[in-house]
Amino acid sequence: MSLAIQWFPGHMHLTKKAIQARIKSIDVVIELLDARLPGSSANPMLAELTGDRPGLKLLNKQDLANPTQTAAWLAHYCSQPGTHALALDASVAAQVRALLPACRALAPGRGGMAKPMRVLICGIPNVGKSTLINTLTARRAAKTGDEAGITKLEQCITLADDFYLYDTPGLLWPRIIVAKSGYNLAASGAIGRNAFSEEEVALELLDYLKTHYPQALQLRYKLADAAAFTEEALLEAIGRQRGALQSGQRVQLQKAAEILIHDFRAGALGPLTLETPAEFAQWLLAGQQLDAQRQLKKDAIELDRKIRFKQIPRPGTVSQ
Ligand code: G4P
Repeated sequence: MSLAIQWFPGHMHLTKKAIQARIKSIDVVIELLDARLPGSSANPMLAELTGDRPGLKLLNKQDLANPTQTAAWLAHYCSQPGTHALALDASVAAQVRALLPACRALAPGRGGMAKPMRVLICGIPNVGKSTLINTLTARRAAKTGDEAGITKLEQCITLADDFYLYDTPGLLWPRIIVAKSGYNLAASGAIGRNAFSEEEVALELLDYLKTHYPQALQLRYKLADAAAFTEEALLEAIGRQRGALQSGQRVQLQKAAEILIHDFRAGALGPLTLETPAEFAQWLLAGQQLDAQRQLKKDAIELDRKIRFKQIPRPGTVSQ
């Protein structure tokens, strides 16, 4: 699909440098994820940069996610060594404060004025980091907004006398390894709206929803049997039901797509999760295989180039 190639910026030097510089003095790394797409909203580079530091995964926007799937993702993360996970709504103080004892449990050797706890918080744009920091500090410290990509400077926030939270500057973009992840990120609002086609994203969303959540579509758009529709027919039915029509009573598909994406983001379809741990593991494997194939192709082209420019002899020829 075109989304990955068009969109992934690839230049995360500032973020990478900032994390590398900070990580030496960090006891726990918090990664904020979107509970509706935990796998896709993670950044694989973060694991490389943070090594074996204990990790706390915060599944934010749990109010918008399917609770059964959230429980499955929590179990998935908690089964990983040195990792704990919590689900929360970043604007609810009581839920957010739970990250303090969770960090203390992950780094029991830290605490007290002599060895204060130092925690790094990371997350892709729009995952709710500013909201969470605002809730923690009970003030409008960080700017929130629905457009992906508002850059910030490093902040150190004192949450207790012996508990410091570091917020990385720069932006931690997700790495789209498979098409499905790209579509899910676009549906969630993590990707700027000029980088994708709403219609394409809506069709992918419908493909997942009609299989996993047909009742949600039926209820919201007054449809009979959502699973029996093709994605295209569903999008048309949504447009018709919501009055997104142009001359000749034809459905404006772009408008219908915008309505569906808006409804999904606002939680108007009910609590939904777009990937299970098992599904994401499959996508990841497919993505890694694709990466490996791409690498093989690149290596073959490079070898051919070297042979043609006589930097190395052709295999099977004897050099004199
Ligand atoms: P960021 O710093 O990681 O980029 O994200 P930010 O806090 O700006 O949050 C992005 C959007 O997600 C905001 O909505 C915010 O209100 C919403 N959000 C954050 N946490 C939660 C949560 O736990 N549940 C729900 N339902 N929404 C959450 P917005 O529409 O862009 O702004 P606003 O309407 O809140 O002003």
